[in-house]
Amino acid sequence: MASSSSSLAVVTGGAGFIGSHTVDALLAAGYRVCVLDDFRTGKRANLAQHAGSDRLDIVMCDVSHGIFAALAPITAKHGPVERIVHLAAQVSVVASVANPLVDMQVNYGGTLHVLEYARAHAVKKVAFASSAAVYGDVTEMPVREDLPTRPVSPYGIHKLASELALDYYGSVHGVATTALRFFNVYGPRQDPTSPYSGVISIFADRARAGRTLTIFGDGQQTRDFVYVGDVVRALVAAVGDGNDRLVANVGTGSEITVLELARTVVELCGKGSTIEHAPTRGGEILKSRARVDLLRDRLGVVAQTKLVDGLRATLA
Ligand code: NAD
Ligand code: UD1
Repeated sequence: MASSSSSLAVVTGGAGFIGSHTVDALLAAGYRVCVLDDFRTGKRANLAQHAGSDRLDIVMCDVSHGIFAALAPITAKHGPVERIVHLAAQVSVVASVANPLVDMQVNYGGTLHVLEYARAHAVKKVAFASSAAVYGDVTEMPVREDLPTRPVSPYGIHKLASELALDYYGSVHGVATTALRFFNVYGPRQDPTSPYSGVISIFADRARAGRTLTIFGDGQQTRDFVYVGDVVRALVAAVGDGNDRLVANVGTGSEITVLELARTVVELCGKGSTIEHAPTRGGEILKSRARVDLLRDRLGVVAQTKLVDGLRATLA
């Protein structure tokens, strides 16, 4: 892992779920960290454990309006930005279907602003949070990175467009990047309060209170749920040197149906929640399981956390 006490790493979306765990890991690895976040879903409380740290700056900034001005006072004090982990995004597939223009401005526009900064300031490495949503409906499992990409939601389209932009900035401007296609990430600090929140955070929140869990569709759709700690190890590896232009899945290589997930969460909570079904949501993919060979061979990361252990940590 490349790190030094003088290296400045920027984490866009660093007050969010995955972002705040990434900040924890980068600080622990010796980086100076600057978080850029507009707090639309992120929370200062996610970073409260670092209150008083002289190696963390938190700057309010909407990345879809550019990041040059926000970073100027930070670089004046601490020197140039060496690395950027770009996580700031609108994360809900369903919200992107309802409002594709906002999704484009934040998810594609935000990435362009980050890449423009990286080009102008010769940033050494950009790691980008892409998504399994770029694949769309794939029948061949596990999903390989070289399969055709046919996203079925604006969210997936804008993540794919961002990947293309990374590739362009690499080939034309020499910006070094790695894109990680996260599958379904879960763990502590994932916010359950929106109807657009990740399914595990919603199920955990409801099952803890003994409330009914709602499954959209018959529950036979599958997802590859990967624990946030494993995702962060991949991000820290990706933002280090090497692996330029790599696009790699981040998952466990196994899948579970949403129905089985609901039953497991209900059982772990022991509050006797019932399960109901509602109509299928638009823009949904049906099956999802990552091929994880590149993650292991290029980034040296194997997702180690078993679902039941990760669920226990999340419920705790
Ligand atoms: P999150 O909502 O907790 O984090 C997103 C963060 O970005 C929040 O802190 C939010 O306030 C911030 N943000 C949003 N728009 C912004 C803007 N315009 N300017 C500045 N900050 C902004 O979600 P997360 O699950 O931690 O997602 C992090 C990244 O990982 C996103 O890029 C998401 O698309 C990607 N991803 C997540 C999953 C998953 O399962 N959670 C899967 C695939 C990809
Ligand atoms: C999730 C991520 C997205 C990421 C993608 C990668 C969130 C909010 N979305 O999308 O950012 O790019 O994985 O694969 O983190 N479900 C229910 N009941 C509920 C909530 C959800 O049955 O109360 C179902 C959904 O219909 C879906 C599955 O659970 O079939 C997962 O849904 P969700 O957690 O929203 O994630 P994705 O849409 O897969």
